[in-house]
Amino acid sequence: MTPPAGSFETGWPSALLDEIAAAGTVAVLTGAGVSAASGIPTFREAQTGLWTRFRPEDLATPEAFAANPARVWQWYQWRRSLIARAEPNGAHRAVARLQRHLIDCRVITQNVDGLHERAGARVSALHGNIWRQRCQRRCGFSETATEPDDRPEPPPCPACAAPMRPDVVWFGESLPADVLKAAVTAVEHAEVVLVAGTSGLVYPAAALPEQALARGRTVVEINPDDTPLSAVATVRCRNAADAALPALCEALALPD
Ligand code: APR
Repeated sequence: MTPPAGSFETGWPSALLDEIAAAGTVAVLTGAGVSAASGIPTFREAQTGLWTRFRPEDLATPEAFAANPARVWQWYQWRRSLIARAEPNGAHRAVARLQRHLIDCRVITQNVDGLHERAGARVSALHGNIWRQRCQRRCGFSETATEPDDRPEPPPCPACAAPMRPDVVWFGESLPADVLKAAVTAVEHAEVVLVAGTSGLVYPAAALPEQALARGRTVVEINPDDTPLSAVATVRCRNAADAALPALCEALALPD
């Protein structure tokens, strides 16, 4: 069943709803846009306050950490402080609801804020989790922080005294092989892929919708703005994820 091509803002097309409801597997790929309504700035929005003069691309790299570990460490603590004050929004709750009630809904996120998990979803977190930190020397030690760390420098690894670093994937680093495999498998099995809140600029995550399209699967982009995926997506929902995803759950008449 080929859903209508083109785009919509509100009112999910019935043919698309039928396809999603009947799908053996639906994959959901999210990016920073799904956390925007929680007050967490997306990557491509201008940073605020102290961090206005920096681009994330210039901070989230091994080179930046090697050159100035204190600056990178403090940036992550600032981001942790934003996330600590944030609550999951309607988009996160809707994704968890889809996962509870669709036949098989697999969630893949590029976000490191943990808000999908706090809303109750099980996710493949491609880029890690901002609350985890590990030994830079990879001695094996890692731990989960519960609040921002107010130390100005990365603390020493308790096991080997090398500096600790955020346990997230930086630009130029490989994604955890097991997580990437789970994401690729999810998209390979999915009849429908919902892509919400991502600019589609960063690989390998951005390749996932492309792989689904190459297999003739239905790819729905949920984003108020244009991205490289917009021109090739099967259907475009030109709306915010925190409006479109709850509306999808309601249109599918899913229980809470
Ligand atoms: N609903 C849906 N989309 C939204 C919303 C919203 N409420 N608000 C903003 N957006 C869109 C923006 O238009 C943009 O296309 O979300 C997208 C966010 O894009 P980015 O800021 O580039 O974030 P993301 O795609 O997740 O970045 C991918 O890049 O910086 C690295 O590792 C980092 O995981 C990140 C990766």
